[in-house]
Amino acid sequence: MNKSSNTYWHAATITRPDRQKLNGHSSAILWFTGLSGSGKSTLAHAVEEELYRRKCRTTVLDGDNVRHGLCGDLGFSEDDRTENIRRIGQVATLFVDAGMIVLTAFISPFRIDRQRVRMMVEEESDFIEVFCDCPLEVCEQRDVKGLYQRARKGEISDFTGISSPYETPANADLIVKTAGRSVEECVADVISYLEDRGLIAKA
Ligand code: ADX
Repeated sequence: MNKSSNTYWHAATITRPDRQKLNGHSSAILWFTGLSGSGKSTLAHAVEEELYRRKCRTTVLDGDNVRHGLCGDLGFSEDDRTENIRRIGQVATLFVDAGMIVLTAFISPFRIDRQRVRMMVEEESDFIEVFCDCPLEVCEQRDVKGLYQRARKGEISDFTGISSPYETPANADLIVKTAGRSVEECVADVISYLEDRGLIAKA
């Protein structure tokens, strides 16, 4: 529900194409989705490093970080996750308008929420859904934060993959298998995709 009545949109004189021109590349959202521990954040940051080397303007929005600030009032119920993704979607579209490549690393377990973000951007192709495909058993074995163990003991409720669902993308733009592969191999998958799409120049 929008409570901001009596407000008016002010059109910018410097536009997204102007900013993209200055940056020397197109802008887009690279939306990494997958289970906790599937490698979203690691991959998003590693891809950002490579893009930085190629002089692209980027930023990463990361689930755990954003939940310290912008979404600190939200928990892990379905409604809260939906609101989390809506806010991130809005922020990500601001970065797209700013001419940047924004990489987001959120579980974003619900298809409809991811689809809504796709609908927020100007062109559907501005939203690139990257599924970090990693079996639950592997994520649970990695258990970098020890959260799976706690969720199994019942200490954390609504935990994705254990007591809350994860809806696998039906039409991901890119599927990156992260189990048993190096970060470099996974980065190469993403970078070649971006090159093939013409979003960044071939190195
Ligand atoms: S999302 O579902 O709303 O997209 P988000 O990516 O922001 O989730 O946050 C996930 C991170 O929060 C996990 O990586 C984990 O560190 C932490 N976390 C804490 N509680 C939960 C939970 N119940 N389910 C999933 N992740 C949780």
